Amino acid sequence: MHETRTRQGLALDEETVDGHVARRSSPRVDALLDGLDPTRPLWDLCCDGGQIGCVAMDRHPGATVVFVDKRPRLVAELAALLERTPRYHGRFRIERADILRMTLPPAPATVVLAGVGTNLILAFLARLQGRRGDRLVCSTSQCPDRFETLATARGLVVLGRVQVRSRHGQQTIWRLAWHDQSPARGALSA
Ligand SMILES: C[S@@+](CC[C@H](N)C(=O)[O-])C[C@H]1O[C@@H](n2cnc3c(N)ncnc32)[C@H](O)[C@@H]1O
Repeated sequence: MHETRTRQGLALDEETVDGHVARRSSPRVDALLDGLDPTRPLWDLCCDGGQIGCVAMDRHPGATVVFVDKRPRLVAELAALLERTPRYHGRFRIERADILRMTLPPAPATVVLAGVGTNLILAFLARLQGRRGDRLVCSTSQCPDRFETLATARGLVVLGRVQVRSRHGQQTIWRLAWHDQSPARGALSA
């Protein structure tokens, strides 16, 4: 997940992009954030070390992020790390919560849910059915064919799909919408 753990807790794994220090990205994270609209909040769900949300803030000066993970120690370490990093100040919130019970975003948001199992992703997306305007970007850690079969059987529409290489092999990233809310289909970044 591209974070480093030290005795003090998490440490940022950084790189220099266009002369600026930034959280290290990867083709997978780049694809998850492709087409991001920085005017709406990004919810980095099951965030672990927060790589996805941090890269989003580094790429887009106006972006704000809500990080959510259920592990108390991880959340405390990530909070401490981000508080130590001035460029993120005032731009994030961190919640320790189970995504199946957390309070949903109060307004249309970009929701990124990656690196977790199919059943968890689908159970969470079910909570968003009936909402309007969310941008849903997902990638499962499990079999992509099973994910897509189950997702479409439940009424989700695939708006876009890309495959990227990662340390764990080929990964599929989907942009999804509930059937009654799907705009014109197109590329992932559309
Ligand atoms: C493999 S990491 C994925 C990290 C990140 N999303 C990514 O793709 O780089 C999985 C994370 O999901 C979190 N998690 C698993 N189930 C969860 C749940 N029901 N609610 C909140 N967090 C959860 C774990 O604590 C862990 O930090």
